[in-house]
Amino acid sequence: MEIDILTLFPEMFAPLDYSIIKRARDKGIVSINIYNIRDFTKDKHRKVDDYPYGGGSGMVMAADPIYSALESVIKNGEENPYVVLMGPEGRVFNQHIAKELSKKARLILICGHYEGVDERIKPAVSDEISIGDYVLTGGELASMVVTDAVCRMIPGVLSSSQSFEEESFYDGLLEYPQYTRPEIYRGMKVPEILLSGYHEKIRLWRRYQSLKRTLSKRPELVDMKKLSKEDKKLIDKIKSGDENI
Ligand code: ADE
Repeated sequence: MEIDILTLFPEMFAPLDYSIIKRARDKGIVSINIYNIRDFTKDKHRKVDDYPYGGGSGMVMAADPIYSALESVIKNGEENPYVVLMGPEGRVFNQHIAKELSKKARLILICGHYEGVDERIKPAVSDEISIGDYVLTGGELASMVVTDAVCRMIPGVLSSSQSFEEESFYDGLLEYPQYTRPEIYRGMKVPEILLSGYHEKIRLWRRYQSLKRTLSKRPELVDMKKLSKEDKKLIDKIKSGDENI
C-alpha cells in the first residue's frame, strides 16, 4: 500500500519512523510519503492561508496549494485515488473504517489546519475522517492515528502471533485481561485458569472476561454485536454473577 500525506508540518511525522510501522516501511509492505503543501505554492512568500471571505477570526487554508500538491502526487493515468481530508466534520474513525481503508492500494491523506480549508477542495476529496469528537490544532496527529491503525491491518505487517484478527476489539469487544511473569506481583496472583494449560477453558474464560469488561465499560458495543449462543450463555452468567464458566 502507498500512503501519501499532505501537510504543512512534515517534521511532525517522526512517529511513523518507529516500531511496527517502521518495519513495515523497511520491508516495503507500505510506502509512506510525506509532502509539504508549502512546496506547492506559487508566490514568493509561499503563502498557504488567507483571511476568510465574510470576515471572522483565524485563517483559512487556500485551495490552490492543496490542488497543486494533489495533482503532483496523483500519477499520470491513475484512476480514483482515495483522497481523505482529516477534519472534525468527518465520519468518526473506528476499526471498521480502518479495515475498509486497509484494502485500498493507495491513500492520500490531507491534513487541514488553521480555521479550516477552503470549501472548494471538497470536489477533490473522496472521504472526510475525524478521529473523535474534539478539535485538534491540525490533522497531522489524526493522519498518523489513521495511518497506524490502517497499516497494522495490511497482511504481513503484524506477525501471525500478533494477528489483529485475534484481537477481541476486531470482533467488536474489549480485550480480556493479560498477564505475564511473575506469577505473583505485589501480592496479586495471575488467575489460576491461565496456568492450567487447558486451552478450551482458557478460551472460554477470556471470552467471559471480554464480554464482562465490555458490558461494564462500553455496553453499547455489546448491543451493536451479533451474539453467538455461547456469548449469550456467558452474558447470562455475568449478569447473574456466576463466575463458574
Ligand atoms: N483536525 C482537527 N480536529 C480533528 C479531528 N478530530 N479529527 C481529524 N482531524 C482533525
